[in-house]
Amino acid sequence: MSVLKRTEPAVAFQVERLTVDFGTDKTGPLQDFSLNIRQGEITCLLGPSGCGKTTLLKSLGGFVVGRDSGGVLFESRYLNGPTPEIVMIFQENNLFPWLSARGNVEFGLKFKAAKRDGKQVVDEMLRIVGLTEAADRFPNQLSGGMRQRTAIARALVSDPHVLLLDEPFSALDISLRRRMHTLMLDLWSKTGKTMVMVTHSIEEALQVGHRVIVLGDRPARVLIDADTSADAMKDRYSPEFLEMQRRIEAVIY
Ligand SMILES: Nc1ncnc2c1ncn2[C@@H]1O[C@H](COP(=O)(O)OP(=O)(O)O)[C@@H](O)[C@H]1O
Ligand SMILES: [Mg+2]
Repeated sequence: MSVLKRTEPAVAFQVERLTVDFGTDKTGPLQDFSLNIRQGEITCLLGPSGCGKTTLLKSLGGFVVGRDSGGVLFESRYLNGPTPEIVMIFQENNLFPWLSARGNVEFGLKFKAAKRDGKQVVDEMLRIVGLTEAADRFPNQLSGGMRQRTAIARALVSDPHVLLLDEPFSALDISLRRRMHTLMLDLWSKTGKTMVMVTHSIEEALQVGHRVIVLGDRPARVLIDADTSADAMKDRYSPEFLEMQRRIEAVIY
């Protein structure tokens, strides 16, 4: 008998009966919504436009706090605002146009107490995302993919526990996007970070996610919660990939 026991991975976020409404007469996107996000996994969120993906992601980041009831536990503590352990990357990457790629990445260290090895850490991060050569260029001299890689490097340089990404690659063309998927998996295998990524591409979710959650709308609810970590799922021609893609398409279109 094997002595190796598979231990349950720790939970990073517990969303507990979270209700978010925006004080309009429309019912808010999240009503009594519960979900656990495991530590050290890449979780991808899919769902129709307007179903509450961004609201959920912002709630994980502490940017939206449930008004009426429920809440989000992060590492077993109630989140009541943003914390440096959790960083969020948006679709428009919000780089500072007056800073070079390196300057933007350095900025990620601004709120970090220990700056001793700052330059080394920044250089290493630029290297990991493949921006060493372009480090001195300004955002308007970078391609879309390079800008998004700069944003990722800026987010990761402070060594947060969690990276939240809201449709980070949707402005990129398909071949660049696929390169970003490889980069994400590479970053994950180097850092083991917990990542939660919203996307509207099923292919992207299956390629990058260890777990894919499909939400339905009004109010948001979990329609599919699938383990997509198997290697076969990373091959977009495999029967496993195609079957999962079909299953997801059946509920969201
Ligand atoms: N700040 C806000 N004020 C009012 N309504 C909002 C606000 N943010 C989002 N909503 C509404 O909440 C719903 C979910 O939005 P969102 O979370 O952005 O969806 P998704 O990211 O899945 O497209 C939408 O109907 C949207 O109009
Ligand atoms: Mg959104």
